[in-house]
Order: sequence, then C-alpha cells, then structure tokens
Amino acid sequence: MSDFQLTRTLDERTAETALRTDVLEGLTRTPKVLPPKWFYDARGSELFEEITRLPEYYPTRAEREILQGRAGEIAAATGARTLVELGSGSSEKTRHLIEAMPGLDTYVPVDVSESALTGAAEALLADHPRLRVHALLADFTKALQLPDSPGPRLVVFLGGTIGNLLPPERAEFLASVRAMLSPGDALLMGTDLVKEESVLVAAYDDAQGVTAAFNKNVLAVVDRELGGDFHAADFAHVAVWNREHEWIEMRLRARSEARVKIRALDLVVPFAAGEEILTEISAKFREDGVRRELAAAGMELTHWWTDSAGRFALSLSVAEGGVV
Ligand code: SAH
Ligand code: TRP
Repeated sequence: MSDFQLTRTLDERTAETALRTDVLEGLTRTPKVLPPKWFYDARGSELFEEITRLPEYYPTRAEREILQGRAGEIAAATGARTLVELGSGSSEKTRHLIEAMPGLDTYVPVDVSESALTGAAEALLADHPRLRVHALLADFTKALQLPDSPGPRLVVFLGGTIGNLLPPERAEFLASVRAMLSPGDALLMGTDLVKEESVLVAAYDDAQGVTAAFNKNVLAVVDRELGGDFHAADFAHVAVWNREHEWIEMRLRARSEARVKIRALDLVVPFAAGEEILTEISAKFREDGVRRELAAAGMELTHWWTDSAGRFALSLSVAEGGVV
C-alpha cells in the first residue's frame, strides 16, 4: 500500500483573489509586470517539462549531472530522513537523491501546481512504494506548515528557481528557509551560473518556440480565470540579458497598439505598440554571491559542486553554527 497525502493550503478562492490582485496591480503600473507563479497551471507545468528537454535549455541536464554524481555524498553528509522540496514540479531529478537515501522516511514536495504534485507522486510511488509522500499545494514564498516527520530534514530547492525571485524576495525567502532548519538540517540549492550571453539567451528563447509558448501561457491563464481577451498572437516573446543585474528578463511585447479587456476586474488595459510586460527574471549567480546571500540569511555554505562544464552549481548549507 502506498502512503500519499495531499494538503491544500491554497484553496481556489484564495488563489483567485491573489491572481486578481496581482493582475490588477501588475497591469496598471509602468512598466507592466505579471508574477511568474501564474505560469504554472496544468498546461504551464507541461510546457516547462518540455523546456527541460530542449537542446538549448542546459540547466536541467547540468543539475542532473551534479545530482547523479553527488547524491551519495549528499545523503551521507545530511543523513536526512525527511526530504522537503520547494517548487518540486515533476520531481524527476529528485529521484537521484531519493535513491541514494536509504534512511529516507518522508518526501514532502511543495508546489503551486496540483497536476505537477499528483503526477510526480504517482510516478515516484510506483517505484518507491514504501516512501511516505506528503505533498503540499502551497506557495513557498508564504509561511509553510510542514507535516510531522522524522529529522534530520533536507530542504531542496532545485532548477535555479531561486533566480526567479527578485533580490529582496530572495532575502526574505532564504530567511524563511533558515527558519525551517533545526540543528542537523540542511539546504540543497541549485543555482544557474553567469556565463556567455548567447548561451543564456538561447536557453530562454529556443528555436522551437516552446519557451515563447510557456511565456504566453500566462496570458491564457488570465483569459480563462479572469475573463481577459488577450490574444497570444498579438504578443512577442522577448528574452534579454540584463548585464547590470546579471539576470535574464522574460517579457511579452505588444506587436501593435491594443486594448485588452479583463472582465472580472472591470478593467481595460491599454498597450502602446512595442510596450512590454515583464513576466519573469531568471538571475544567474557566482559562488561568492550565493555564499553571501546564504550568510545574510543565517546559513553557512559547506559544499559547492558544479557540473563538468561549470554551467550550474549545487550548494549545500546549514544553519549557522550547525554541523554537516
Ligand atoms: N524543481 C523542478 C521544477 C522547476 S520549475 C525542476 O528543477 O525541474 C519551478 C516550479 O516551481 C514549478 O513546478 C512551479 O509550479 C513551482 N512554483 C513556482 N512558483 C512557486 C511558488 N511561489 N510556490 C510554490 N511553487 C512554485
Ligand atoms: N526556473 C526556471 C529558470 O529560471 C524557470 C524557467 C525556465 C522559465 N524557462 C523559463 C520561466 C521561461 C519563464 C520563462 O530557468
């Protein structure tokens, strides 16, 4: 018998209220913005999985290479009995860790995408029927109520998703992760690294247009949930390297002047030709910066591993004063 529980801390009403607030605030300011967590409805989660298989999108393969090579070391260093994963998505790469952790009792995937959570749990339990899986449908930027489970706990945050938060959000998020760690617990985090601009831009603007479809999916979410009349074809996908901040900016650019109605908000959003919505940033890191941000949140980086091509890094850290 497999042991699966799903706890919903986001009911549909709360999610819809949050979406309304975000869309109203984001589309009535200059420049316009939409927060990235709204990309991930069932279709968005599917498109993201497609992105991970694109030839241009190296982060997933690079991170998998590190996990494959280091899972045993990570398991031995942490001795974790509970694995909490923030923004777990398909949990595909996490399998390498789970398989290296013989003492693992409970896996707690946390995601805003219910379809991703149930799909991931089903696939995992088929191969690990004795694993307890307690999924949380929750926003990882908000306070999390973790289930009761045995320590030590390893919190993992993969895919470079930390880079999708703005620096002040990152600081707040890392402080909240720090607060989840007891002595003996650890954080394993994936960060994409600064590299040549052409490689970075291609990873976010692939030849097949999958990333473009993913970016535009946020418009479909607004249309469906809030009665909007965005036409995805009227917007172009744009990925730009911001050299000063060392992040990729994903934008949607209006191809011509437009007025978009959003019924549920009783709102008409005017777009000038060429006007853009900033939909996501994906920050790229250096070892020093990661170490500094972790330290500022009260954590100490104990291990730093990169893939053989030096494109992506995994860091292991503990609460300051803790031991791993
Ligand atoms: N960890 C996976 C997926 C990364 S994509 C990998 O490395 O391949 C980012 C994931 O985080 C998606 O599954 C998305 O649904 C989830 N996500 C994004 N914002 C979130 C938030 N605020 N709270 C919880 N999950 C979030
Ligand atoms: N965490 C992923 C990243 O920053 C998310 C992502 C990949 C993404 N491609 C995207 C988000 C395109 C928006 C648009 O790499």
